[in-house]
Amino acid sequence: MTQDEAKGLVARRAAELVADGMVVGLGTGTTATLFIRELAARKLDIRCVASSDASHQLAESLGMRVATLKELPELDVYVDGADEVCAGAGGGLDLIKGGGGALLREKIVASAAREFIVVADSTKAVEVLGKFPLPVEVIKMALPLVEPKLAAQGLHPKLRAAKSGDGPYVTDEGNYILDCACGRIEEPEVTAAEIRSIVGVVEHGLFLGMATLALVSGEDGVKELRAQDLQAHAMR
Ligand code: A5P
Repeated sequence: MTQDEAKGLVARRAAELVADGMVVGLGTGTTATLFIRELAARKLDIRCVASSDASHQLAESLGMRVATLKELPELDVYVDGADEVCAGAGGGLDLIKGGGGALLREKIVASAAREFIVVADSTKAVEVLGKFPLPVEVIKMALPLVEPKLAAQGLHPKLRAAKSGDGPYVTDEGNYILDCACGRIEEPEVTAAEIRSIVGVVEHGLFLGMATLALVSGEDGVKELRAQDLQAHAMR
């Protein structure tokens, strides 16, 4: 099974969990895009809030009803991909997100949802977070202050370049992203608090204890995993 096929499997399973009348948060990235397409194909009577301009536009182009958090401040479920998933120390699921650059809006929309389902192929399931560079979203003018502080914390920040190669990447909220090659993040709560303490940091890609269920696909199909299952399933 290819990685794309695995992403397609979890996207379909997640779409099957949505029912008429729900308010659904739409994630961002390649897996979330597949989910949005699967969900649109079901033609349910639902309303959605998107976590990026790209997902908003895609959903609207597929005929879905997309509103803002002002109109729909409470969501039944948020579905999104992740760059890494592991069992968190607090008994929940911990994630690294933001490889697609939408971490800030993703965390905001996820925080408004009663359930957060993370959809991932099995390459994303890890024992310890940190192999994937941790994205940190930073106010533009604060970059010269934030970058050395992250470096002093040993996080090896690197300014993300635009895909076009033309200058830095700019998020939907107009900020920069520093990708931090942390290595193993043994104490994510501590790392998160240290990053948060730097003035000019808007958000980071550690989503700790927010996701309630992980749908993880591999050669054996789709597994529905909660934290304790992930410990056994993790691969690195
Ligand atoms: C977007 O900002 C990210 O948080 C994505 O959800 C994450 O990078 C996973 O993306 P893929 O589904 O494309 O692997």
